[in-house]
Amino acid sequence: MTQWNAQLYDDKHQFISNFGGNLVSLLQPTKGEQILDVGCGTGDLAFEIAKSGATVIGIDAASSMIEKALEKYPDCTFHVEDAESFHFPTPFDAVFSNAAMHWMKNQQQVISNCYTVLRNGGRFVAELGGANNIQAITNAIKEASTTLQLPYKAEQFPWVFPTKEEMTEMLTNAGFQIVAIEHYERPTPLVGEDGIRNWLMMFSNNLLKHLTDTEKETLYAECEAILRPQLYHDGTWTADYWRLRFVAVK
Ligand code: BEZ
Repeated sequence: MTQWNAQLYDDKHQFISNFGGNLVSLLQPTKGEQILDVGCGTGDLAFEIAKSGATVIGIDAASSMIEKALEKYPDCTFHVEDAESFHFPTPFDAVFSNAAMHWMKNQQQVISNCYTVLRNGGRFVAELGGANNIQAITNAIKEASTTLQLPYKAEQFPWVFPTKEEMTEMLTNAGFQIVAIEHYERPTPLVGEDGIRNWLMMFSNNLLKHLTDTEKETLYAECEAILRPQLYHDGTWTADYWRLRFVAVK
């Protein structure tokens, strides 16, 4: 399982929650609703949703994230739960998920679990990395591995980036009616001169877990050199993100 550094996540990757604010508007939470935030990270969006007067439960498989969320938002409810196996006794009016599902290997199971915990008519509003996501970054990791004669282990690739068609099929299989689904390119600015290095340090741990710290450092530097012409412009690193966003109803 991915080990998360919750402090680095908050310090250098605030853009994840910032972009998610827009998804909260799409959710349109209202006072009195019961809402489940799947893969809530350090809780920023659960807190944002709770401002509407809705009751929110945030779940995340990483205990470090949940500890941080509880520290930041002690009045909100957060639990360590794996999205592939969670159960709740009372139904929710809505399930929300931002930038989390692409870390989940069995997305069909996750989607079916979300269906099960919704009341009839309840909505599922989510966004995740879609097909083509971080293609330049993953290509650079492969190329840098070859150049440096380090092994690249495809079986350690930790993400699933579905196409619109694949997501449509998974939602439909679970029983959802799709209200809207969109696959779009969303170049994402990273913070600071070390933006791409910080991104790699934060997110590529699983993919590179077979390397020593020194090998990883060399690989980061090589990736930085490969990616600079593509992703660094006017003093800003921009990650080549593609999003898949949908609203579906039970
Ligand atoms: C994403 O939000 O698309 C993403 C974040 C970290 C690793 C991979 C993808």
